[in-house]
Amino acid sequence: MLYKYILKPVLFLFDPEFVHDLFVSIGELCGKFWITRKLINWVYGYHEGCKHGRSCTYNRHVSKIVDGIKYRTPVLLSAGFDYNGRLTQILPCIGFGGEEIGSVTAHTCKGNPKPRLTRLPKSQSIIVNKGLKNDGVDVIIARLKKVKHDFVWGISIARTNDECSADIKAGIEDYVYSFKRLNEEDVGDYYTINISCPNAFGGEAFTTPELLTQLLARLVVIPCKKPIYIKMPINLEWNQFNDLLKVIDFYKLQGVVIGNLNKDYSMLADPSDAPDQYVGGLSGLPCRQLSTDLIKKTRQTYGKRFTIIGVGGIMSAEDAREKFEAGADLVQLISGMIFDGPSLVAKVAGAGALINEK
Ligand SMILES: Cc1cc2nc3c(=O)[nH]c(=O)nc-3n(C[C@H](O)[C@H](O)[C@H](O)COP(=O)(O)O)c2cc1C
Repeated sequence: MLYKYILKPVLFLFDPEFVHDLFVSIGELCGKFWITRKLINWVYGYHEGCKHGRSCTYNRHVSKIVDGIKYRTPVLLSAGFDYNGRLTQILPCIGFGGEEIGSVTAHTCKGNPKPRLTRLPKSQSIIVNKGLKNDGVDVIIARLKKVKHDFVWGISIARTNDECSADIKAGIEDYVYSFKRLNEEDVGDYYTINISCPNAFGGEAFTTPELLTQLLARLVVIPCKKPIYIKMPINLEWNQFNDLLKVIDFYKLQGVVIGNLNKDYSMLADPSDAPDQYVGGLSGLPCRQLSTDLIKKTRQTYGKRFTIIGVGGIMSAEDAREKFEAGADLVQLISGMIFDGPSLVAKVAGAGALINEK
């Protein structure tokens, strides 16, 4: 209520990137103090065992073990919100069982020219043209090594968004550097290789079977004891998508995150609030059906072979339930939290509990 009817109308008057940065700074600060963590957890946490499920809808046991990793709740913050790993102490207090930090890149990225984020409230979507703005893997490793690690950290790895890494060979070396450094320093519980960032130099080069093969052939020889997932594009036909899954299966990776932003602007529910000219991918509602369909087909075709993390357009507990029913083991979100507020996280966690009970 507080977020939806008081905070959101005010926040939506300001530039989305300014608000995002503000929230990250406030979140980081609140994460430093016991009292603010307790208070936020009291208001927004998933309270297993409470009689009436104050902020949680279902009040059931929701923890889950996936690929040997224990998640307190089956809902994670998706890559792109906490680029630099600054929210690790506060996110567990709002019901998240983990987060995907990043995407991180080998070198510092300044991001694409502004505006990089545009809200489309009528379509419950955000045009994202962030261009992988982040501090670079070494700075992020140093930051994460200093903080308490008591919930799941996935680290999303992309290639640096600059001309030097746009070439295929250089791009692969860029991924290899980050992946190697994270493993050497033993930072992160799982790794996601983001091959589907739609708004960077060189485009989505590694979304063809040939180039994905080249990339994975280099990565799998690097010693790694953690699960590795691939962040999938959602604008492919099933045959093309399945060709990528075959490569991922061949290299024995543990799973897939389905999926990234939607590049099909015709799928906006109401294009009237979209600018005439825009670049970037769409988050939120326009991703929902595409990602759920691909999750379902992947599960039907491969059974339990892949861990599936379902993401895209989870704007309500019902949307999350659809993802779990389609076959997702875990879910991630960003846009739903922006449009509905942080209380959505506990509701989504509860939706996972319902499925676990079946
Ligand atoms: C502001 C923003 C930045 C994003 N940056 C990344 C990124 O760096 N890496 C990545 O894999 N996905 C990125 N994404 C995509 C999200 O992780 C997610 O796949 C997508 O937004 C769909 O989920 P949602 O509908 O819950 O927002 C970004 C999304 C948003 C909204």
